[in-house]
Amino acid sequence: MNLILLGAPGAGKGTQAEIICKELNIPAISTGNMLRAAVKAGTEYGLKAKAAMDAGDLVSDEIVIGILKDRIKEPDAQNGFILDGFPRTVPQAEALDAMGVTIDKVVEISVADEKIQQRLSGRRVCESCGNSYHVDFKPTKVEGICDACGGKTVIRKDDEPATVLDRLKTYHEKTAPLKDYYAKQGKLVTVEGQEGIEETSKLTLAAIEG
Ligand code: AP5
Repeated sequence: MNLILLGAPGAGKGTQAEIICKELNIPAISTGNMLRAAVKAGTEYGLKAKAAMDAGDLVSDEIVIGILKDRIKEPDAQNGFILDGFPRTVPQAEALDAMGVTIDKVVEISVADEKIQQRLSGRRVCESCGNSYHVDFKPTKVEGICDACGGKTVIRKDDEPATVLDRLKTYHEKTAPLKDYYAKQGKLVTVEGQEGIEETSKLTLAAIEG
């Protein structure tokens, strides 16, 4: 099964992808995580992506389509995958179609902008392994320390309030049109993401299986 999780920054795509990939036994593929790893490693495309990411803007379609195309060829993705953060523009969705990838369902996690700001201001991520937490809704067992690897948890650079506003604007202008794109293909299902993490997982799984 090939799935797409669509939603504003902070809607909970990464959180749900992590839960659902275990349920369905398929990998979660996050272009955001791949780009952050490339920035950290200082690769050529990481260097190109950094300025756009820091500004809350999108990285060029060319770079992102290239890394996604390579990733879905890997052996673990041959029985299906969950895309988190891709596609983010209509040209990216068209590129996915042109790759011959059949998407079974597109689940939009819908959360109001005001709630997004609250979520992102409390998010903490592990600087070593990238695991994501929330100070109130998904706290680490020991404050400031990643449960998974013992690394230090930090605020993501693009979670600064001003950058969050820019990311929301980018989402509404460039990514939200994908709802129409996939609704026309009869693949879009919308899940209410305002509630807690567990409740949202139940709704998301029901939408996928329904
Ligand atoms: P990316 O990493 O994809 O960021 P994003 O889409 O902005 O999404 P986030 O990771 O911020 O949020 P999320 O929806 O995964 O929420 P999360 O589960 O963490 O991309 C970063 C940047 O990379 C982009 O700005 C762009 O520059 C670039 N990029 C990436 N892909 C690209 C592409 N395809 N094209 C071009 N550029 C690209 O949850 C947020 C917080 O809320 C967490 O703390 C979590 O614990 C908490 N939480 C989650 N769900 C709930 C809930 N139900 N109740 C309470 N708390 C919750």
